[in-house]
Amino acid sequence: MIYAVGIGPGDPDMLPHKTVLLLQKADVISGFETVLNLAEKHFNPNATRVSMGYKDQSEKLEQVGKYSREGKVCVVCFMGDVNFSGYEYLERIHNDCHEPAPTIIPGISSAQMAASRTLTAFETSVFLTFHKRGDISKDKEFLVSALKLGKAAIVIPLPWDFMPAEISRYLIEQGIPPKTKVNIFEHLTWPEEKSYSRTLDNCIEKFSDVSIMVISSINSSQQS
Ligand SMILES: C[S@@+](CC[C@H](N)C(=O)[O-])C[C@H]1O[C@@H](n2cnc3c(N)ncnc32)[C@H](O)[C@@H]1O
Repeated sequence: MIYAVGIGPGDPDMLPHKTVLLLQKADVISGFETVLNLAEKHFNPNATRVSMGYKDQSEKLEQVGKYSREGKVCVVCFMGDVNFSGYEYLERIHNDCHEPAPTIIPGISSAQMAASRTLTAFETSVFLTFHKRGDISKDKEFLVSALKLGKAAIVIPLPWDFMPAEISRYLIEQGIPPKTKVNIFEHLTWPEEKSYSRTLDNCIEKFSDVSIMVISSINSSQQS
């Protein structure tokens, strides 16, 4: 049995109770080392920990698949929520663990935290991620269209090619008003959380790879 669980944005107290109970009894707990470190206070101390990095993730997930077929309760931990920019990793559970239907338990996404910090309702905004493999040109066009329609946007950048500074420059080039407000959050809910309030034309710094950007509606930016 494989569970794919979102461990939330970083604060180890921001996990659903169901996920905490599962982690307390799991036989095998796996995920990227940086993600496991955030939730480890909840781990069954006797669980086998299968931590991975980008290079060895396939072989480590194959191992998790084997444990699952031996009857062990296996948990694969995702950053935030599985359903927000998590499907490339979910695909690896399908392909490398040979598990087509893991049980998913949602978590709190960094996108939801960023929405809360900026009072951005999802129904008036779009969420999109550039943090993915392959061509992002259609996503870039979609972002411009959504902003021109007056939506706000909650955006996961692409380290290090399309970060907040590059996104801001691109949006200005595409005709989005330079004074459009943006908020950038680094390490949301971590002890070292930082936030920055900018406009597109002064969003020029290099931010952490653990950052998320909220672009306000061009309508609200013009009003103030
Ligand atoms: C592959 S995406 C996964 C997103 C995750 N599934 C979620 O729901 O937050 C990873 C990126 O999400 C963003 N991210 C995740 N947690 C974050 C946090 N606590 N604060 C700011 N950004 C975060 C960063 O841009 C990070 O590089």
